[in-house]
Amino acid sequence: MPAGQHEWRMLIRTGDQRYRIVSPVNGCGADTGVRHGESGIPAFNIIHACDCVEGMRRMEEESVDIIVTSPPYNIGKNYRSHNDRMPRDAYLDWMETVADEACRILKDDGSFFLNVGGKPSDPWIPFDVVQKFRNRYVLQNVIHWIKSIAIEKAAAGNYDAIRGDIAVGHYQPVNSDRYLSQCHEHIFHFTKSGNVTLDKLAVGVRYQDKTNIGRWKQATRDLRDRGNVWFIPYTTIRTSRPHPTTFPDKLPEMCIRLHGCDETTVVLDPFMGIGSTAVAATRLGVRFIGFEIDAEYRAVAHERIKEINDRDRES
Ligand SMILES: C[S@@+](CC[C@H](N)C(=O)[O-])C[C@H]1O[C@@H](n2cnc3c(N)ncnc32)[C@H](O)[C@@H]1O
Repeated sequence: MPAGQHEWRMLIRTGDQRYRIVSPVNGCGADTGVRHGESGIPAFNIIHACDCVEGMRRMEEESVDIIVTSPPYNIGKNYRSHNDRMPRDAYLDWMETVADEACRILKDDGSFFLNVGGKPSDPWIPFDVVQKFRNRYVLQNVIHWIKSIAIEKAAAGNYDAIRGDIAVGHYQPVNSDRYLSQCHEHIFHFTKSGNVTLDKLAVGVRYQDKTNIGRWKQATRDLRDRGNVWFIPYTTIRTSRPHPTTFPDKLPEMCIRLHGCDETTVVLDPFMGIGSTAVAATRLGVRFIGFEIDAEYRAVAHERIKEINDRDRES
């Protein structure tokens, strides 16, 4: 069996009826595991072959500026190495552990952007998960990630750019006469104090009505706060998908830019998948740390990052 492919995660039932995550390689693969940088913390710009809780435990307190992540939602997706059909309590306990460890390593002025969705027959999931974060964080913003939207011209009013009714983004039909198609997910923005200053215009939008510029003290240029509704469609529809549940690279990119970043910034994605957060961080020139238990997803992610770095070197 090729190196890395022996990582399997299992849930075992322990005496007190809780579930414990175990792995034959003790969380971090011996051949692949966590690579440490000079300071002893997990090396930057690598997706470590490691259970994220184990990985975060190896990190120093207050060493991360921004966490952007989308954990498994426990809705029965077919991941290669993760069981997405955990008992609900075990899943929520796990999310609480993730919240705890992340809180320890997040800087006091850091931001944690948590993307969670549900499914039509179980829309409580994001709200159950967010409760597990409640004791540790302030919920500074709730962002609505819109994947698909329909706008009727008559409702939009008099906008030159809208010539007729539009329906844009990736629409996924739902096979039910009870449930609506899921066109949106949550991005919960947690901070430790609720007082973290954001770079709102880094993800700002241009004014439709230019007479607004200069009208208010803050409106000094043609950009305003985007608000908390972000339309981010999937850019490509792949014929064969290497991963069942990715978010578009633009989502972590906007989160990183909203928090604000420079070359000293450290971004963490504990559930890196095929590396969308790593791709966004690399494009923005900031350092990242990622954890992902699946070797194939990691390989896709590293390939995507290599392509960006190769392209940068050529240009
Ligand atoms: C929702 S997906 C993240 C997808 C990612 N945002 C992307 O765009 O590629 C969740 C990922 O968490 C990984 N995962 C599950 N359990 C994990 C654990 N204990 N530690 C690290 N990664 C884990 C899964 O293999 C899966 O790739």
